[in-house]
Amino acid sequence: MDNMLARTGGRPARRGPRVALASVVVGLSAVATTMAMASGANAGTTLGASAAEKGRYFGTAVAANKLSDTTYVGILNREFNSVTPENEMKWDATEPSQGQFSFTSADRIVNHARANGMQVRGHALAWHSQQPGWAQNLAGGALRQAMLNHVTQVATYYRGKIHSWDVVNEAFADGGTGARRDSNLQRTGDDWIEAAFRAARAADPTAKLCYNDYNTDGQNAKSNAVYAMVQDFKARGVPIDCVGFQSHFNSASPVPADYQANLQRFADLGVDVQITELDIEGSGQTQADNYGRVVRACLAVARCTGITVWGIRDTDSWRASGTPLLFDGNGNKKPAYTATLDALNGGATPPPSTPAPSTPAPSTPPPSGGCSATVALNSWNGGFVATVRVTAGSSGTGGWAVAVTLPGGATVTNTWSARATGTSGAVTFRNVEYNGRLAAGATTEFGFQGTGAGPTAAPTCTAS
Ligand code: XIL
Repeated sequence: MDNMLARTGGRPARRGPRVALASVVVGLSAVATTMAMASGANAGTTLGASAAEKGRYFGTAVAANKLSDTTYVGILNREFNSVTPENEMKWDATEPSQGQFSFTSADRIVNHARANGMQVRGHALAWHSQQPGWAQNLAGGALRQAMLNHVTQVATYYRGKIHSWDVVNEAFADGGTGARRDSNLQRTGDDWIEAAFRAARAADPTAKLCYNDYNTDGQNAKSNAVYAMVQDFKARGVPIDCVGFQSHFNSASPVPADYQANLQRFADLGVDVQITELDIEGSGQTQADNYGRVVRACLAVARCTGITVWGIRDTDSWRASGTPLLFDGNGNKKPAYTATLDALNGGATPPPSTPAPSTPAPSTPPPSGGCSATVALNSWNGGFVATVRVTAGSSGTGGWAVAVTLPGGATVTNTWSARATGTSGAVTFRNVEYNGRLAAGATTEFGFQGTGAGPTAAPTCTAS
């Protein structure tokens, strides 16, 4: 869908919700995106336009309180076609008291973006840092439930307005262990990450769902651990669409030699890759060369769909003393800007016209006739998310119905990619318009969320 950028003069096209929904749900296979690659003929004169000619976006982190600064907004509107709220969508900003949501600052950024045809990257739904005090003081089931509620409420509020969500941020430890980072969220159980992704998909099936981290930009123990997680998620049908590479670089943490190869190996898992928080400390030609390398690496990886720099002017940066951005404090273009634009206007590997399926191939042979269904369950104390995979038998299906029995006290609160009849006891889920027709052996997924305990008995599937 990012390819649509190429047809709109540097502004991302609005995505039709039907198309976006279907593309995510049926495994990103059915959407014919129109490619309009400029084949280098029209070198752009702004970052956004040049990236769009290569089928990518070029974004920046934005702070709501700077939207009244005319120099800042002038550069923003001229150069960028994607924005990431720098702090305004974080847990402490959006849910300062438990259950009390505050979207005023984030809305200012989203409204500015929409009014100016820019995409929005949502950042970040679940993170150990910048949690409100009340969440920092929670643990166990109460924290798990609060986190899932937060993910659900925020992603639901912004449903249809977010291009990509950083669903989980920075969940792995630095150093050579490849372990998860210790945090209150991690202590609720290893499955907190997949539970967050499932809740996000349920709340907004149109957004691409990303895992985002730093020090994962080259191959190392940490990126290997993230790689293994993504591989596992893809194999088990946990909804993940993209991996974000923050790419905060300085002399102690330079652009790795294998940056492009690392992006490529993740892309080869069947996810998009995005450069999400790029800044490179330094100045002059050295800094410019490093920016050029990063941009060329993204363009060389077909599924590297966009680049976001973490601020506009050096003085806007969270690391201002390192002058890591593309514009100086007066808003003038730096050599790093020119190198970035030149790299964007150079050669590129076009992104694929049809993204690879996010639903893995069935590992079991198709049943003969009818259909079958399996349930993957994510439970916590007081609730669950069920992901159901439907596999068509040898005759294919024109439609399907999956019957599930819920234990006493359990209630379905939310269903996606299916229609539910009933909410407790015997519940039947029927296909929606776009996922009823399955070829022999083909699969589709739907899901539901509920309170109480999830189903334990195997579901039954009936084809029509
Ligand atoms: C930073 C912001 O830029 C600062 O304004 C804030 O004080 C701290 O957070 N990784 C992330 C971003 O995912 O959210 C962080 O942003 C930078 C590191």
